[in-house]
Amino acid sequence: MSNLDNLKQEFNKNLSQISNSEQLTALHIKYLGRNGLINDLLKKIKEIPNEEKKQYGTQVNLLKKEIEEKINAKTKELSSKKSDKFFDKTMPGKQYPKGSSHIISYAIEEITKIFEKISFIRVSYPEVDWEYSAFESLNMPKGHPARDDFETSYIDTPPHPKFGKMVLTPHTSNGQNREMRRVKNPPIRMINISKCYRPNWDATHTPMFYQFEGLCVDKDINITNLKGTLDYFAEKYFGRGTKTRLRPHHFQFTEPSFEVDVTCTVCKGSAKVNGKKCKVCKSGWLELGGTGMVHPNVLKEGGINPNEFTGWAFGFGIERVIMMKYGLDDIRNYYGGDIRFLEQF
Ligand code: DAH
Repeated sequence: MSNLDNLKQEFNKNLSQISNSEQLTALHIKYLGRNGLINDLLKKIKEIPNEEKKQYGTQVNLLKKEIEEKINAKTKELSSKKSDKFFDKTMPGKQYPKGSSHIISYAIEEITKIFEKISFIRVSYPEVDWEYSAFESLNMPKGHPARDDFETSYIDTPPHPKFGKMVLTPHTSNGQNREMRRVKNPPIRMINISKCYRPNWDATHTPMFYQFEGLCVDKDINITNLKGTLDYFAEKYFGRGTKTRLRPHHFQFTEPSFEVDVTCTVCKGSAKVNGKKCKVCKSGWLELGGTGMVHPNVLKEGGINPNEFTGWAFGFGIERVIMMKYGLDDIRNYYGGDIRFLEQF
């Protein structure tokens, strides 16, 4: 038997004993590696008499090819065995983490739905607006000290002859005049939700924040309607049994004007928790924001006859109502991006 036949027999025997991929790799190296047995045979070609060289070379190459094919076949056989391994179909699948709405987006959605149920229309007016929409149209002429309360940021562009400079709107009341002019003929039932800007930064203020503004204009609208709507909102948003109260106040754009309080979500208005003074409210009440009957000048400026129509308006902070609802004490968490805080809602 020739050398080649011996090698072939030897290989077939080795191959028949292979049962895993490590062994197969070793076999591959032994026969086909750089210093493997096939290369040894090829190197020996020098010693072969010239007239036999060609035949010898062909035979070695044929044997090499045969070994390669058999090793490839064995590789396939071993890998297909792997997939025969027991697969438990009843094992629970991998859970991928799910995203969720940001706490602010969630509150905006909730508030919108509450007002849509009583036929208010959600609108969104510019965050970068004219002084006219933010002030003049709201009975706050140029130089009026009440404008200072808002500490407004101005945009560095040439002023408009009628509308004045551009501002980052300091409140959503800028939507009142725009909505009156859009609708033209009352009834108006608006809920305007938007970002607002004032240069404050502490535990209860961020320079960018959200407000929601209600505006209702129609024939015979009065404070009873306002109080009823506020009670409805407070019950729906903060929970059953929440009450509201109005305290006299002053705003340029409403007359009379009020501040609205709601019963504290922690002590439910009793001012006491386990016999001690409630730490959250101290009085049983928490301040929600400003409201009042729309000033006749504001109606006139919006193209509405104040002798025919009356209305009320309110403006509340979204971050504030969330803090009241969940008893949170630092508004900066909303925008800090700490996922552990945000995941809780
Ligand atoms: N714009 C006021 C503010 O940001 C809130 C406000 C008060 C809005 C009374 C109103 C209102 O519509 O009637 O402080």
